[in-house]
Amino acid sequence: MQLSTLATLLPLLGAVSAAPGSTRSRYALKERHVVPRGWTESAQAVKSHMVHLQIGLKQSNADEIDRHVMEVSTPTHERYGQHLSADEIERLIAPSQNTADLVHEWLAEHGIAPDSYSAAKDWINVRVPVEKVEKLLNTKYSVYTHTDGTSLVRTPEWSLPEHLHEHIDVIQPTNSFFRMSKHTSDVVTSDSTEMTIDEWHKKNPWANHHHTPGTTPNITAICNASFVTLECIRTVYGTIDYQTRACEENSIGITNYLGEISRRADLKQYLGLYRPEATGVADSFPIIAIDNGNTDQGPLNATQLKSGQDIEGNLDAQLVVGISYPTKFSAYTTGGSPPYTPDLGEPTNTNEPYNEWLNYVLAQRDLPQVISTSYGDDEQTVPESYAKRACDGFKQLGARGVSVLFSSGDNGVGSDGTCYSNTDPNKATFLPAFPASCPFVTSVGSTANFEPEVATLRFGSGAGFSNYFKQPSYQHWAVQGYLNKIGNTYAGLYNPNGRAYPDVAAQGNHDVIVYNGLVRTVGGTSASAPTFSAVIALVNDALISHGRPPLGFLNPWIYGGAYKALTDITSGSSIGCNGTGFAAAEGWDPVTGFGTPKFGELVKAAFSKGQGY
Ligand SMILES: *[C@@H]1O[C@H](CO)[C@@H](O)[C@H](O)[C@H]1NC(C)=O
Ligand SMILES: *[C@@H]1O[C@H](CO)[C@@H](O)[C@H](O)[C@H]1NC(C)=O
Ligand SMILES: *[C@@H]1O[C@H](CO)[C@@H](O)[C@H](O)[C@H]1NC(C)=O
Ligand SMILES: *[C@@H]1O[C@H](CO)[C@@H](O)[C@H](O)[C@H]1NC(C)=O
Repeated sequence: MQLSTLATLLPLLGAVSAAPGSTRSRYALKERHVVPRGWTESAQAVKSHMVHLQIGLKQSNADEIDRHVMEVSTPTHERYGQHLSADEIERLIAPSQNTADLVHEWLAEHGIAPDSYSAAKDWINVRVPVEKVEKLLNTKYSVYTHTDGTSLVRTPEWSLPEHLHEHIDVIQPTNSFFRMSKHTSDVVTSDSTEMTIDEWHKKNPWANHHHTPGTTPNITAICNASFVTLECIRTVYGTIDYQTRACEENSIGITNYLGEISRRADLKQYLGLYRPEATGVADSFPIIAIDNGNTDQGPLNATQLKSGQDIEGNLDAQLVVGISYPTKFSAYTTGGSPPYTPDLGEPTNTNEPYNEWLNYVLAQRDLPQVISTSYGDDEQTVPESYAKRACDGFKQLGARGVSVLFSSGDNGVGSDGTCYSNTDPNKATFLPAFPASCPFVTSVGSTANFEPEVATLRFGSGAGFSNYFKQPSYQHWAVQGYLNKIGNTYAGLYNPNGRAYPDVAAQGNHDVIVYNGLVRTVGGTSASAPTFSAVIALVNDALISHGRPPLGFLNPWIYGGAYKALTDITSGSSIGCNGTGFAAAEGWDPVTGFGTPKFGELVKAAFSKGQGY
């Protein structure tokens, strides 16, 4: 009798573990994200492989924070410039006690203790083996291998007990196949001849033409579109005669990822060429390592040099310091996304690192007023829930008065031959880039040539319309103006109601840098973002020295009138997806945005809060 009871019970127990319940509710699918092209399932995940699980709890007051960031960033609003403190933001967004309790209860049921929390307690981090995560999320992890040979442990879908669906926005690593890449594309870095500093001086006589302060610059004499020097950039954008006055309070940062660093020795040589008074910065600028970010300044080996390791880190630092010196400068270096090693029992963090960076900086009380980033990937490789949470983080930085700028990407409307939808591989589509597509960052496209500058054509300057983020009201008028001009061109290939980018542009075709002790040129929107960012840092210098708040989230100011302080770029297009992409046009366009900086005019626009502009 006893035996037969057991026999009837056993299959039942089996059914329960296949579709687990919790003490409160049954599991239901929370999110599915199709595995992007290029990835194939190659093996079962090792059950003991440790996962750094990041659980994003629903934040409180989501609409309130939107209202705050728009009010403090819109020049016509009475709260313009009254940025929020970290404490104020944390109090606003902290998840409700009920949310926190329910999530902790669920973790405790699975015997999982939180490892750490974000400052606002809106993220809980835990470290657990695959085996346990599979039960926690009622899913199955596998090893996925990319055509380029790198691997990740992921699952396309995950579930939660039903009662938690409204309390948890996102959990990673689950279905994110996002891999950030640098925005200096191979085509752009491989075609430059390198020369020693002496050769550089001999072969390039135009580099010895200098701008005379107080005179109208002769751009033809100072600039060569094949070798865009720091002196040329500072002259063309009008910062060269500016004397900083707030460099004690004002600062600018760049972010390094993927093991990139900004090399002190190269920065020193670069500044020696153009701004000898600044060379001391090379030894002293702070390098802030997050999540074991690389800080090794030792020599690069042949393999690393061939792959262009640290070109990105050098480019960002050299342009930012070169333009904004003596504004305080710092470089973040964030680890994460190392190749997955299947037999490693140690915790390996394979999460995409924006979140690591955001959780670190959002916890800081003092932040640079401008932060430039030159990395990104196709938006469709990031699950929507995760893209939205990262974008929320950039929004919080904006609310705190930080201008967050991203390069728009180097593949125009999408890499040739890859422009298909994730969810329907037969559907041709343009491929917007993330985080450029986040409405709370300022996205920077690339220009080439002088008098006039045009959209860069040697590679496609990143451009497009988000499929995740709807078009923010601040840009609606400008984007509609462009869409009215192009009519049905490319209809069906992009989302006309999406957040459109870039917002602005700057030189990014043949920028001169020093790499491994040699002078060379580099292109990409990777050059454009630090250039535009450094100009904004100097506008902040002018504001701060007059007791005004910094610009913060730039877009409402730019679209609200300051766009008139930019040089409109009207020629060229965002080549990609086997075509010419969107064409530049008069006014805003999804290639160069509103155009490139005119520093003096931007300062005026900043002091008039954009009005009269
Ligand atoms: C500007 O420089 C170019 C090249 O050096 C020279 O030919 C030209 O005359 C200069 N223009 C003016 C207005 O000085
Ligand atoms: C600009 O640089 C290119 C490449 O070195 C050179 O051929 C050309 O003569 C330069 N142009 C001027 C005006 O100096
Ligand atoms: C170059 O350095 C990297 C990083 O330290 C290392 O992984 C790689 O094996 C080295 N390659 C050679 C050829 O020494
Ligand atoms: C687009 O171009 C790529 C390479 O440039 C090629 O492999 C692919 O077949 C092309 N696709 C179409 C639809 O023409």
